Amino acid sequence: MTTTLTRPATTSAGSPAPDQPAPTHALSVRDLHVGDPSTGHDIVRGVSFDLPRGGVVGVVGESGSGKTLTCRAVLGILPEPFAVTGGSVEVVGRDTATLTPREWTGLRGSTIAAVFQDPASYLNPSIPVGRQVAEVLRVKLGLRRRAARERSLELLAAVQLRDPARVWAQYPFELSGGMLQRVLIAAAVAVEPQVLIADEATTALDVTVQAEILDLLAELRASTGLALVVVSHDLAVVAQLCTEVLVMRDGEVVEQGPVSRVLHDPQHDYTRLLVREHEQYGLERFLGTDGGELR
Ligand SMILES: Nc1ncnc2c1ncn2[C@@H]1O[C@H](COP(=O)(O)OP(=O)(O)O)[C@@H](O)[C@H]1O
Ligand SMILES: [Mg+2]
Repeated sequence: MTTTLTRPATTSAGSPAPDQPAPTHALSVRDLHVGDPSTGHDIVRGVSFDLPRGGVVGVVGESGSGKTLTCRAVLGILPEPFAVTGGSVEVVGRDTATLTPREWTGLRGSTIAAVFQDPASYLNPSIPVGRQVAEVLRVKLGLRRRAARERSLELLAAVQLRDPARVWAQYPFELSGGMLQRVLIAAAVAVEPQVLIADEATTALDVTVQAEILDLLAELRASTGLALVVVSHDLAVVAQLCTEVLVMRDGEVVEQGPVSRVLHDPQHDYTRLLVREHEQYGLERFLGTDGGELR
């Protein structure tokens, strides 16, 4: 087993002051609507969930069902012309509707972070990957050059990249997709966020590497208390990691509940279809033979 991360006792930016009672939820989404305010047309309609500290919630649904817009609303990075048109998002007890753009920037990458499908596009092709992680530490945590380098090496080890010193000095084109996603996860957890959103983070990877990355996320959760939102069009990904799942279709949540219940006893036709589609290739691994434990 390689190095793991532990959360230091300090409170990071965006956390409540030590004498305040800690909010119970890392993330709380209430009846979220996302749409184009100029037309009044909502694409995401009524998403609600609570993510406890250290919890894992999954969002599953076919392409175009509104998963990414939901994530981007939670991260405060909706593309034009979209905006939050209803409902609320609280990050560690903080209502994000009241945040200024500057406060949003502070919250992202300190309290809430994300990894997406295409890791290469988030890295500068002409800078060694380790230096890019170190840069995050310098900018976001104010670490000096040497400390940032040392910490970035620890982070590369923590995301289970073999030979971190060698990887540190490599350029993105020299690394595989799975390695690049590990680098991106290292950069995302560098600032010890409370919430990490993984939006199709393993979709572009082959099945073996996908499983390794999911294991890594589970380990980071266990060692740091990081809360995860795992988004995938693939029910098997969500089944592997999550305790609660939301099934989205056409901008709405059609079914929501504990993963074990949703997989064993789907109530909605669309969920039944998703479960049935996956039965051919591997979901029974998570369903178990006795209909009991998922993991
Ligand atoms: N930048 C954008 N401009 C215009 N329409 C968009 C944009 N992003 C998403 N949409 C539309 O919003 C809907 C939901 O998209 P998205 O949240 O990306 O779905 P998912 O992540 O579930 O595949 C889709 O119908 C898509 O066409
Ligand atoms: Mg998406």
